[in-house]
Amino acid sequence: MRTIKSWRWMVRKRHMLIDGGACGVKMKQLTFRGIVCIVMLFIVYRTTYYQYLQTEIDEKLNPFYASKDIAVASNSLGNLPRGIVQARSDLELKPLWSTSSSSSKVNVSSSHNLLAIPAGIKQKSNVDAIVRKFLSENFTIILFHYDGNVDGWWDVEWSKKAIHIVAENQTKWWFAKRFLHPAVVSIYDYIFLWDEDLGVEKFHPGRYLKIVESEGLEISQPALDPNSTGIHHRITIRLRTNKLHRRVWEARGSTKCSDDSEEPPCTGFVEGMAPVFSRSAWLCAWHLIQNDLVHGWGMDMKLGYCAQGDRTEKVGVVDSEYIVHQGIQTLGGASAPKASNPEDSNKEHTLDVRTVIRKEATSELQIFKQRWERAVREDQNWVDPFRRKGRRNQRRRKQRRHI
Ligand SMILES: *[C@@H]1O[C@H](CO)[C@@H](O)[C@H](O)[C@H]1NC(C)=O
Ligand SMILES: *[C@@H]1O[C@H](CO)[C@@H](O)[C@H](O)[C@H]1NC(C)=O
Ligand SMILES: *[C@@H]1O[C@H](CO)[C@@H](O)[C@H](O)[C@H]1NC(C)=O
Ligand SMILES: *[C@@H]1O[C@H](CO)[C@@H](O)[C@H](O)[C@H]1NC(C)=O
Repeated sequence: MRTIKSWRWMVRKRHMLIDGGACGVKMKQLTFRGIVCIVMLFIVYRTTYYQYLQTEIDEKLNPFYASKDIAVASNSLGNLPRGIVQARSDLELKPLWSTSSSSSKVNVSSSHNLLAIPAGIKQKSNVDAIVRKFLSENFTIILFHYDGNVDGWWDVEWSKKAIHIVAENQTKWWFAKRFLHPAVVSIYDYIFLWDEDLGVEKFHPGRYLKIVESEGLEISQPALDPNSTGIHHRITIRLRTNKLHRRVWEARGSTKCSDDSEEPPCTGFVEGMAPVFSRSAWLCAWHLIQNDLVHGWGMDMKLGYCAQGDRTEKVGVVDSEYIVHQGIQTLGGASAPKASNPEDSNKEHTLDVRTVIRKEATSELQIFKQRWERAVREDQNWVDPFRRKGRRNQRRRKQRRHI
């Protein structure tokens, strides 16, 4: 009996050695895959954990959801000594062993910011340009490969510095909900959740950060160059003479915006293509993202509720650092479709997909609105912080009309 056991053990050991050899050869690749693996495992763990929580909690979401959630969590952790519990993580790559150079590189006190961006191989050169700008400001980069193509990225110089997540045909909001949990990104001061089709020639991440910090913007976006395609809301257009703006005036069109306007999209509004969140605003926004509504339509109108205060003050569009929206229809962003391209060889199929996606996004928008209304109805304690506050505020606002 014993001999059999030890023989088995030998076989197993041999397998391990063989695996180990292959491991040595492909160490670098495996390191990366290992990281992706770990992230995936974490997600699976979180998902099952939350599914468990959901069955525990009443079918209907109720006002006690948050406190119950915490209560369940602390019950499950009851047998751990408190000091060992780590409720947070981050997206920083770690060396397998510490060397003097790597340990000096890790500067705990320095600031951390995150760029998260969907990346299709067709947009490689544009994503490359964006990432280079952000890397020079020491951003952490996470790419969401929605077309399944990761191998096409290995030749870009920064590829191994980035975290790559792969899930085919998923949207930016799907990725964000699953991979940017507030507990995982809480070390980052600002989170840039951008589409890939943005031109950053006139954009400097460092200067942008200085502006949002000094102006106290919890949610912001860079303004869009007026010659951008796919401009949906006037407030996002760049004003040449400003550093930033927080509202727009518009007499024509379906949405009229005046001094009296207190609501998006006249003020307190950024669009979904290039939002930037502070840590607290992201904590809120992540909870606002609906798990099953992957196109994120309609959420921009409610983001102001995550502004950590008055949305007419804490949400803004930065003019001095601006971007060009190229309006390329991609799955990652899934904004409104652009006009059809006659040179597109795949035109019919492409149009078909676009139509279907648009239809889906529109129906999701309806669901989102209904959920919001229902939540408002059912939450007896909820008071709309932005209910019109009367003339006093408007007079005050007129005095700083230039912003
Ligand atoms: C970390 O960065 C701060 C300033 O950002 C600097 O004062 C400090 O010396 C750095 N520490 C290390 C170990 O590099
Ligand atoms: C980025 O990090 C490097 C190394 O820690 C540091 O020398 C450099 O000043 C940082 N750059 C910025 C813009 O913070
Ligand atoms: C993703 O979408 C493309 C185009 O619609 C399709 O050809 C492909 O099969 C899809 N992949 C998956 C895994 O659903
Ligand atoms: C318009 O956008 C293109 C890039 O799409 C840019 O090269 C050009 O300079 C822009 N023109 C103006 C007037 O800003």
